[in-house]
Amino acid sequence: AQTERELLYKIHEVANTFFQEILWENEEGKAIGLSYFKERELHDDIIKKFQLGYSPEQKDAFTKYALEKGYEKEILEKSGISIFPENTPTGVDRFRERVIFPIHSFSGRVLGFGARILKSNVKTAKYLNSPETEIYHKSNVLYGLNQSKQAITKENLCLLVEGYMDVISLHQSGIENVVASSGTALTTEQIKLIKRLTENVTILFDGDAAGIKASFRSIDMLLAEGMNIRVALFPDGDDPDSFARKHPRDFVENFIKTEAKDFIDFKAEILLKEAQNDPIKKAEAIRDIVKSIGFVSNALKQEIFIKEISTNFELSEQSLFNELGVQKQIVQ
Ligand code: GTP
Ligand code: MN
Ligand code: MN
Ligand code: MN
Ligand code: MN
Repeated sequence: AQTERELLYKIHEVANTFFQEILWENEEGKAIGLSYFKERELHDDIIKKFQLGYSPEQKDAFTKYALEKGYEKEILEKSGISIFPENTPTGVDRFRERVIFPIHSFSGRVLGFGARILKSNVKTAKYLNSPETEIYHKSNVLYGLNQSKQAITKENLCLLVEGYMDVISLHQSGIENVVASSGTALTTEQIKLIKRLTENVTILFDGDAAGIKASFRSIDMLLAEGMNIRVALFPDGDDPDSFARKHPRDFVENFIKTEAKDFIDFKAEILLKEAQNDPIKKAEAIRDIVKSIGFVSNALKQEIFIKEISTNFELSEQSLFNELGVQKQIVQ
């Protein structure tokens, strides 16, 4: 007999096909969904590569279709794609009037969906995602990994971005070694997925306050897993998607290469700018960088990083190692 997991995979496959058929063949899908992707300058081949779709306005379009195909209410509800509110005879779709981004496993099975509203509306969340299910654990998945894994291996480098559209736009411009954390804090499980392919990560987060904050968190997580990290921020107001649409591929590649700094220089640039010439704030900035070094498990690497700070900021190695000792006690 089919296990529940297998059935959930199957339902996601059916839904994925359904949303794509609506996008390409249904009047509403073409007029609203496909037009939306065209406005964002995506070409047909890339829309197909990422299996993008559209969920119509009708509140039970998919649920009705799936019930008619013989899928049962219980399993549709468990998939997270349908919702059966209490005291109502029929189910409704979770995703309505949204463009659909299927989320694939490492090996290419559809585990869940992300869905974006078409107009920026302050009242509703911009993206709605599948809930946690038996097959979808958002902390264990990286968007784009299936489409990017070969390029990541080939380049021996993984670019890490925030959003679905960042991954897709970079692919369209020919940069294919990229995955997205999808706006959540990077997890150890996600880093282990990258580590199967490469130990080198370049963080390319949005150039806003949220992007900087997220990059600081991600740096420590990545260091703890022994990854080599570089960080490049896009100009404030840009994300990889908007940047890749404004500039040709060579320019984007060159920007990433020249802008990417090691984590010490990256943190120093941001924290020391904030500190101005205030000696107390400067000391705090150094301590913050040393704290990141505390996440590095390899003693030799730690020493190299300490030496780098010592040289850059004209501080004695001894006082930096003392600070590292203090930080390590806190981390433990
Ligand atoms: P676009 O406006 O479509 O270009 O999206 P974006 O990816 O640039 O959005 P943003 O930088 O605001 O967010 C980055 C990522 O965080 C998105 O791709 C989503 O994965 C996630 N995200 C953003 N907004 C929401 C939200 O309202 N709810 C959830 N669950 N995730 C979100
Ligand atoms: Mn987990
Ligand atoms: Mn953002
Ligand atoms: Mn963004
Ligand atoms: Mn964007």
